[in-house]
Amino acid sequence: MSESAAGDTRLAGRRVVLGVSGGIAAYKAVEICRRLVDAGVHVAPVLTADALHFVGATTFSALASEPVRMALFDTAEPIPHTRLGQTADLVVVAPATAKLLGKYAAGISDDLLSATLLATRAPVLVCPAMHTEMWEHPAVQENLATLRRRGVHVVEPEEGRLAGGDVGAGRLASPASIVEAIAAILGSRAGRRDLEGVTVLVTSGGTREAIDPVRFIGNRSSGKMGHALAHAAADRGARVVLVTTVERPVPALAEVVKVESAQEMHDAVMARMGPVDVVVMAAAVADFRPVAVAEQKIKKAGGPPRVVLEPTPDILAALGASKRPGQILVGFAAETTDVRGHATEKMLRKNVDLMVANDVSAPDAGFEVETNRALLLDPSGRVEETTLMSKLALADRIYDLVVDARAHLALDERR
Ligand code: C5P
Repeated sequence: MSESAAGDTRLAGRRVVLGVSGGIAAYKAVEICRRLVDAGVHVAPVLTADALHFVGATTFSALASEPVRMALFDTAEPIPHTRLGQTADLVVVAPATAKLLGKYAAGISDDLLSATLLATRAPVLVCPAMHTEMWEHPAVQENLATLRRRGVHVVEPEEGRLAGGDVGAGRLASPASIVEAIAAILGSRAGRRDLEGVTVLVTSGGTREAIDPVRFIGNRSSGKMGHALAHAAADRGARVVLVTTVERPVPALAEVVKVESAQEMHDAVMARMGPVDVVVMAAAVADFRPVAVAEQKIKKAGGPPRVVLEPTPDILAALGASKRPGQILVGFAAETTDVRGHATEKMLRKNVDLMVANDVSAPDAGFEVETNRALLLDPSGRVEETTLMSKLALADRIYDLVVDARAHLALDERR
């Protein structure tokens, strides 16, 4: 990368929390801070108490865009970790010590930096630095593997001279390469307003089909993928309608419709379809529901009840059958066998423009986890197999293909 990041459009105007934990390499974070500020980044520095053994808070306060914060409890701002976490475009920790990585992997939030890491939905980059023996310890490597699996980005340490004169792996990567990694992560999302003027309706979560006032038939969907799709669409400038069964953080300006059953989801989607350009059916909709819902709680004393099921309306198939020209339909297929075959069959049968197929039997993809890996299929026969990535990154890849599909439609119309 060039010596200066000034003028880098991937960085200008972005908000970065710069976490500094207590390692000798903390002095290099000063240089990272300066480079980011020079590039037009709003830098909010968060230091751990141990970092103060190596660098002064005043140095960062003078160079960064706002004063250093360290305290989880602050009288001026009662809960700084949520503000920092929610407003950040990226959180970077450089250097990240073995202790910091261990706490983050274990979900321990006993200071402002570790709490901010748990409170953010932004991409996180950790830049480990420590002595070779610590770096190579299985505990550290396993913690790092856990974080990677959750979608955390890592700039690995380099080989070189370490504190005390030892030589080996564990030296913090150079400030230039860390700033470049930050730019690359932000650049993959920054400045893309390619859904401006587009209305995207996303469904999220799993439906619940009542058996009686207490019990329901449900599924494992957490809504993480659906909500990531809502956030990614909003980030890219879309007007977002989110029809959801779950309560999770939503994009600021989204129209949010809370539903529970497949029928309610069907009705909510159909009522809002008119102006919608893109529908993303990420929800796991029940295929069957009880024919009758008991008015009172079914009593155990009556013996095992006979629950008779009937099909629910297939929302995606209904949309596919009534799709107006120019509308794009994205469907999801959660499969455990022959993922490609089943997904292709569903795509054609439901008249879908892009099918996102998951092997939900894989431990690191599909329901509940933070990461996903998918087969992206379209009716022209194009197949893309993604790598394992965060659900937000997968959402962005899906919209790349949606934007392509919209461009093709526009081209066809002009012919
Ligand atoms: O056939 P299958 O349920 O696997 O299809 C999955 C896709 O169809 C998903 O996009 C899901 O949201 C949608 N679907 C639907 N209505 C149903 C069942 C599934 O819209 N009743």
